[in-house]
Amino acid sequence: MVTAADSTLPELDAGELVRWRADGGRLVDLLTAAQRLGPVAGFRIGDRQVVLVTGPEEVQHVLARHPDTYVKHGHRAKVLLGDGLLCAAGEPWRRQRKLLQPQFTVRGIRAYEPQLRAAVAAVADRWRAAADTGEVRELDADLRYFSLDVIWRSLTARPLDEPTYRQLVAAGDSLAAIPAFAPATGESDADFSRAVADADRAAEHAIALARQADEPTLIGVLLRAARELPDYDETLVRDELLTLMVAGYETTATTLGWLFLLLDAHPEQRDLALSAGPAGSAERAAAIRALIDETLRLYPVAWLMPRYAAETGAVGGHLVPAGATVLLCPYLTHRDPEVWPTPETFRPQRFLAAERRPAPGSYFPFGLGPRACIGAQFAVREMTLLLEEVLPAFRPEIREQPTEAGYRLTVHPDGPVRAVLHRAENRL
Ligand code: HEM
Repeated sequence: MVTAADSTLPELDAGELVRWRADGGRLVDLLTAAQRLGPVAGFRIGDRQVVLVTGPEEVQHVLARHPDTYVKHGHRAKVLLGDGLLCAAGEPWRRQRKLLQPQFTVRGIRAYEPQLRAAVAAVADRWRAAADTGEVRELDADLRYFSLDVIWRSLTARPLDEPTYRQLVAAGDSLAAIPAFAPATGESDADFSRAVADADRAAEHAIALARQADEPTLIGVLLRAARELPDYDETLVRDELLTLMVAGYETTATTLGWLFLLLDAHPEQRDLALSAGPAGSAERAAAIRALIDETLRLYPVAWLMPRYAAETGAVGGHLVPAGATVLLCPYLTHRDPEVWPTPETFRPQRFLAAERRPAPGSYFPFGLGPRACIGAQFAVREMTLLLEEVLPAFRPEIREQPTEAGYRLTVHPDGPVRAVLHRAENRL
């Protein structure tokens, strides 16, 4: 499908690539240099043509309007997650998405609200105990436990236990080590055999728990499909439940981690959010939502989405040849001064109703189009419930934090975040 392609793709030349490698070879720097060439720009690594798409209109074109031309292709997580939603393609993907979609609408996730609230209460209890003793907590580990606990409870109707937590984190860590896109050839595939064994054990345990549950569970939905649908079997139940856990926990935990770091640097934003309205009010909920939206603007954890051009096409008037790797990078679109005024400033107010909503394609932390995140409402709900509970109750005093962001499968704080939790004196 070729539509009016009238100009040559602006490309970084070989000299720029040599300089980039000499300067440390960080992918984010290469992409930043390419973005300076325009909303659609390219470079070549060996015989591989890479096209970076950062302009809002062009992002829409690729993700929302032509998902059958720019397709997801050979995700390396498949070794661990099999044919679950994240890695599936074509008709099987469509069937699986249709099965799960109703569970993840605003209405659908209400069935799991008690589980979300129980996980929030568990964190608040832990933090209250820590505040009383002055213990230094690893905030990132607490947030990781929380977001895995939320999904585990929604899958099984039971709280997460420590041994399973350790198995899942070990499996998740192997995935997190995968680069979002590997331009430097020679990077060997991670050895996933331990991770697969850990993940299998956790999946078996989850299925056994869900079979005993009386409450609604996500695994219950999958098991019913395995009983009733001809193309659904128990291997797919395993793949799907692991996909939901892995796709859902690191992303949410990392977003919350960035949010606490941003609030540490901008404490007035915590107070502004809490003074927007009393506990439980729509005004406070909107202000907390704006904190989440602005965090995801600056740190869209799924910062890079690769696609494969299944046929030759045109993006923003530039020819994109079949076989090219097309990269969408919300991290760069969200920080483009042409798209967002003062993009480096943390200003949640830009998401509040009085100001302009972002134009389509200019904000896509959850992706866009048919392959957009199925768990977006779920993630926003769990983060909102946690923040509504802990922001008024605690003031984390951060004692240690990384100075750099790491850019692998996610953009994440590159090291532990340690904090002492003080009880907030004037609980708002
Ligand atoms: C802040 C939290 C989250 C962020 C930023 C996020 C981001 C994303 C993005 C950008 C995609 C699309 C990737 C692409 O187009 O290449 C995606 C897909 C997906 N996400 Fe999320 N996600 C989050 C939380 C969750 C949660 C909580 C779940 C499940 C409970 C989840 C499950 C999935 C699944 C299954 C897919 C694949 C959907 C498909 O291909 O049909 N995510 N996510």
